[in-house]
Amino acid sequence: MTGEVDAPQTVVAAAILRGEGAEGQELLIARRSAPEKLAGLWEFPGGKLEPGEDPRAGAARELAEELGVEVELGDEVMSQTAPEYEPGWGWRLSEKAVMRLFLGRLSGGSSAPQPLQDHDRVEWVRLDERALRYPWIPADVPIVEALIGT
Ligand code: C5P
Repeated sequence: MTGEVDAPQTVVAAAILRGEGAEGQELLIARRSAPEKLAGLWEFPGGKLEPGEDPRAGAARELAEELGVEVELGDEVMSQTAPEYEPGWGWRLSEKAVMRLFLGRLSGGSSAPQPLQDHDRVEWVRLDERALRYPWIPADVPIVEALIGT
């Protein structure tokens, strides 16, 4: 026996925040300004968990830091069909990183989202085919496709 173990993984936690817009339900997306290789690409906001951090707490912390909002997070976004979703781990971002993703909403009394750090723009979008016109971070594309059922 070599006692092979899985390499430690980077775990990212992100959120899909829902809001009610004029045309129905909308989701918050944010455009990255950093690092350079991701600048200009849209994502569900989030970031790396600290060691031992609860994933929902980490996602909430990242959204507070990056967008200045207070959030309430609920169900985890999973898939039974997307090959990028690994049960027990989350959405595969790369060989070494996975992402936990949670549905949520702004808490009552939260400020409106503003790009404070790592982003230069935020938008509320309807989750239909039009959402795919945005240039997404590659890792988020299969998630958006899974969510809109394409
Ligand atoms: O925001 P932060 O740089 O901590 O995010 C860590 C990594 O997670 C980024 O490099 C990005 O590639 C990835 N990520 C992602 N999709 C998201 C949020 C983060 O692929 N929705």
